[in-house]
This record gives sequence, C-alpha cells and structure tokens, in this order.
Amino acid sequence: MEVKDFKIQWFPGHMTKARRMMEEHLRLVDVVVELLDARIPGSSINPMLRQMAGSKPRVIALNKADMADPVKTEAWLYRLKREGIPVCSVDCHTGKGVKQMLNLVKEAAKPITDKWLKKGVKNHDIRLMIVGVPNVGKSTLINRLVGRVKAIASDRPGVTKQKQWVTIAKGLELLDTPGVLWPKFENPEIGLHLALTGAVKDDVYDRRDALHLLLQELQVKYPQQLAMFYNITLSPEDTAETIMEKIGTARGCVKAGGVIDLNKVEQMVLYEFKTAKIGRFTLDEP
Ligand code: G4P
Repeated sequence: MEVKDFKIQWFPGHMTKARRMMEEHLRLVDVVVELLDARIPGSSINPMLRQMAGSKPRVIALNKADMADPVKTEAWLYRLKREGIPVCSVDCHTGKGVKQMLNLVKEAAKPITDKWLKKGVKNHDIRLMIVGVPNVGKSTLINRLVGRVKAIASDRPGVTKQKQWVTIAKGLELLDTPGVLWPKFENPEIGLHLALTGAVKDDVYDRRDALHLLLQELQVKYPQQLAMFYNITLSPEDTAETIMEKIGTARGCVKAGGVIDLNKVEQMVLYEFKTAKIGRFTLDEP
C-alpha cells in the first residue's frame, strides 16, 4: 500500500453553503483564530480561509500541543512566524497557551483599534471567532474561553446555531459559534493525516489501509517509540503486515487456533495513536 493510493470518500455537498456562512460570520469579526492540529499543521490548515478572510487579521493556534512532538511544534512555530503569521501553540485541555493566544489576537487587532482611537471611538470591543476543521478542538477552546459548557458544535461544515457574543476578557468578545471549515484533500497524504487524527469520520476511508500507512510512517519517523510502546523489535525488512502481527503477538490479540486477530490490532493501534498513547507524534513536516 502506498500513500498515493489512499482514498477518502468525501462528498463536499455542503461546501457552497458552508462557504457562504463562513463569509457571513467573517464579516462580523475583527480577528479570526484558525485552530490547527499541532500533529498535522500542514494538513489541517485550510487555504480557502486566507482567501475568504481577505485582509482580516488572522492568528493561528496549534492545538493539541500536548499530543504533538514538541521539537516539531517548535519548528512549525518558527516556520509560521517567519511567514509573518502570529502563531502560538495551545493545549485546550489544560489551557496552556490560551492567554498568549489572546495576546496575539489583541496585537493582531492593533491596526484596527488604532483606527478606532483615531476616530475617537473608545471602549470598542475586538470581536473574534474560532475556526478550524472538525475535531480540532474548537468547542473545547470556546468552552474554556467562555468558562462553561456552552458551545455545541456540529461536525457539518458551516452548520451553525444562534449566534451570541460573549465577553471573554477585557475588550474581547467571542462569537460563541465555531466556524467549521471543511477539510481539504489536495493530496492523499493530507487525507490520510486528517483521517488518522480524527478530522474525518472513519466510515469514509479504509481503516486497514490507514493503519498500514500509519505503521509505515511511524517505522520511518518514530521507530523507537513504536517498538518500545508495543515491546516489539523492528527490522528494516518489516512490512506493515509483519508489524501488525508482532503487535498482535505482543499484546495477546489472538483468536482461536492461535491466529492473530488483525481487526483487534487495527482498532487498538488506531485508537492508541489517535489518543497519543504510543507517543507524541507529529506527522506533518514543517
Ligand atoms: P471541534 O469542536 O473542533 O469539532 O472539536 P472538540 O472541541 O469537540 O474536540 C475534539 C476532541 O479533541 C475532544 O475529545 C476534545 O476533548 C479533544 N481536545 C480538544 N483540545 C484538546 C487538546 O488541546 N489536547 C487534547 N489532548 N485533546 C483535545 P473527544 O475524545 O472527542 O471528547 P472528550 O473525550 O474530551 O469528551
């Protein structure tokens, strides 16, 4: 199995509507915060947003930093900063980095607030919204900012409920509805990375193919962590199939007759990858 053969059954039926809604919301805000998955910053970014947001200030937050490779997160931050994008990493579970993110929002809005001041407008709040692909952590971030369980996001791109503005800090108002961006599938690798991290539902791709490709990728990028976590020995001759068998044996995933239960291995490894139990991995190279 090669990455180029990985397919996602994606029907972008809602895209036009989603785009229209996103544009409508964008008109209401001063700053857009695009949440990316720190494990796949390149795959979870949506280039359409830049077009839609136009000259509107944009801040990027690499979320789920607790699950990503810290060295690569630093490299991604360096790269994006060099491109002139205000960026930070966050962990919405603990709240780490969220304060810095809000400071970046204020900085990014400075040209706008300066204009307000020049016009004599005082005490005007900066309005922001959180956007990102499904499952990147938008609702978790909004809940953290708002301080109570409030935001219920839909997985369907662009689908919204009643809009509401919530004051989250002095001078900052948040649109409590996240903007759901549709994932882009410009190439099979992007699709694979989105699938492996949960941005697309698992009924639109072949899980066994995804696992094979994941094991091949980890064998190259994180072989020691993979071997250590499953207590197996890897050799350069290993294929995804033989790694699955080794993991199955090590974990006792065996059916009657001593046959390895590959379905169980598949379910287990995909879950343990998605939840960063195997290790903190970043799949996209900066
Ligand atoms: P969305 O609105 O963008 O679709 O994403 P949502 O906030 O629903 O988050 C998707 C999943 O990601 C949730 O897990 C959430 O807890 C988790 N998550 C969000 N931010 C972070 C983070 O910074 N670090 C980690 N490790 N996880 C994060 P879930 O398993 O779907 O739900 P639950 O078990 O938390 O209830």
